[in-house]
Amino acid sequence: MAAKRVLILYYSYTNQTKNLLNALAQGLEEQWVEVVWEQLRPIDSLRFPIGTVWGTLVMMVLTFLRKRFPIQPISESCFSRWDLIILAGPTWSYNPSGPVLALFDRDGRSLFQDQLVLPLISCRGYWRAHLFGLKRLLQRCGARTTTPLVFSHPTPEPWRTIGVFLRLAGKTPHNTSSRFRRFYPRYGHSREQIIHAREIGGRLAAYIHGGTQGRDFPMPIPVPCDGNDFGD
Ligand SMILES: Cc1cc2nc3c(=O)[nH]c(=O)nc-3n(C[C@H](O)[C@H](O)[C@H](O)COP(=O)(O)O)c2cc1C
Repeated sequence: MAAKRVLILYYSYTNQTKNLLNALAQGLEEQWVEVVWEQLRPIDSLRFPIGTVWGTLVMMVLTFLRKRFPIQPISESCFSRWDLIILAGPTWSYNPSGPVLALFDRDGRSLFQDQLVLPLISCRGYWRAHLFGLKRLLQRCGARTTTPLVFSHPTPEPWRTIGVFLRLAGKTPHNTSSRFRRFYPRYGHSREQIIHAREIGGRLAAYIHGGTQGRDFPMPIPVPCDGNDFGD
């Protein structure tokens, strides 16, 4: 029997998506699914952190307006047939990130037509518009989409919004001895979410081994949905 192959196509600006994917890929590989990685690389590399409050505000406005961040060419092998493509990246101002939008403009149809695509989103908590737009882009390219995986930062509001903003502006609120740290212990996803991503990878592998063609969607992966951590 031919090995099942999954393409992980991703962009990650602050490594949160990447950390989730590493765990998910581990779960897949433990169940003998071959994983091939392709990272989207902006032509003008983006500095993290942005470093200033003004620069962060400008970035927020540009990304709200769906500014594209042109990317380098992706590998030829990405355009072959896959049992599943995982398209992963952060939410940027209620949209897919600029590099992912640039990917759709340039390669969307040739990459995704007739492919099965699992959208994976890392965000601080506001992902619905992003997911809606992403699914529409995928459908326009002729892709079939599965149940999405959405991971929100687990820290409650308003701290996670303030924390993300400060982190982008170059501050490290979670490392200071300030009172803020009590409410905002870390930037990004928790260890539990990473462990969970690995478990989901294992279940996803079982699904893929069962054969994805001609089966009902969404795929039967029970995704926790508490309106904060995950959800759709
Ligand atoms: C420019 C910018 C805009 C963002 N806008 C949103 C947003 O609208 N909703 C949200 O939940 N998170 C938003 N975030 C937070 C990221 O989605 C979140 O930190 C994510 O975990 C980062 O993933 P990454 O490290 O893979 O880039 C934004 C981050 C950036 C850099």
